[in-house]
Amino acid sequence: ADGLNSRAKAAGKKYFGTEVSGQVLNDGSANAIAKNAEDFGQYTCENEMKFDATEPSRGTFSYGNADKIVAQAQANGQLMRCHALVWHSQVPSWVTNGRFDNATLISIMKNHIANVVGHYKGKCYAWDVVNEALNEDGSYRNSGSVWGSTIGPAFIPIAFAAAAAADPAAKLYYNDYNCDRPGAKSTGAQNLIKMVKAYGAPIHGMGLQGHLTTGQVGSASQYVSNMQAFANLGVDVAFTELDIATPSSSPNFGQQATDYATIVSACKQVSACVGITTWGFTDKYTWISNSAPLIWNTNLQKKPAYDAILNAW
Ligand code: XIL
Repeated sequence: ADGLNSRAKAAGKKYFGTEVSGQVLNDGSANAIAKNAEDFGQYTCENEMKFDATEPSRGTFSYGNADKIVAQAQANGQLMRCHALVWHSQVPSWVTNGRFDNATLISIMKNHIANVVGHYKGKCYAWDVVNEALNEDGSYRNSGSVWGSTIGPAFIPIAFAAAAAADPAAKLYYNDYNCDRPGAKSTGAQNLIKMVKAYGAPIHGMGLQGHLTTGQVGSASQYVSNMQAFANLGVDVAFTELDIATPSSSPNFGQQATDYATIVSACKQVSACVGITTWGFTDKYTWISNSAPLIWNTNLQKKPAYDAILNAW
């Protein structure tokens, strides 16, 4: 049998995977694609494991939809990348409006991590522990982040240490966008990884979100050297949320296929790149408005990107 995941594994990678959501689980034809482990060896929950979904009120945890996704992955022998513990977005208002002091917010964060990571202990290949903690210039995000503005950057190593305590076997990732190529933000992420290590907390991976634009992807070499810079710090790398936008009104699916192949080729060239996850698989369910960034079209037919990815592994 052949498929995107089978080819990735044949190239020595751990998985080719996709984000899935409760919406996909409720759409039989779309879900049939997600269930095919030849194409997808790994799932990430789109929203179902985020703070607002899992701890909607203080100390009350809810896992209904996330549990369904994890159960489907387990039934199909698919890995879970679990996403995301500490992020400035999709945080419930009881946290953002709570006016908690530093010590209280740290205890809220640690308690959240202990509960959520504990609930999925042994079931997550990886956790995105901290998501999007950097500004575009590579400095730590304070404005707009309850974590950064209340606790300061120390929330980052504290979160990694708490996740490690709750599931010592999970690979713990820092995850961000616009770190895919060399630049100030990628350098900032490398500094963040060094900072976590300097605090004595474990960090095992850099998640490159990979929200890219058709025609602006360029050559594989820049992604290769960027991934290598992270690998040199002793961490794995992965593309965690890959999608390559093209306007649904005037799409360029040929260029999009070339651009997907470029990212696959870059990952293939770097041994520390463990896998690629796309942020969904069908244009029917994408978070980008008026865009057709994925591998199957809205009618669940394969686009040119499918064969391009297959052949690039
Ligand atoms: C997005 C989801 O796809 C949307 O449904 C939601 O409304 C907002 O979040 N970076 C991330 C993901 O780490 O969690 C985001 O997912 C996309 C950007």
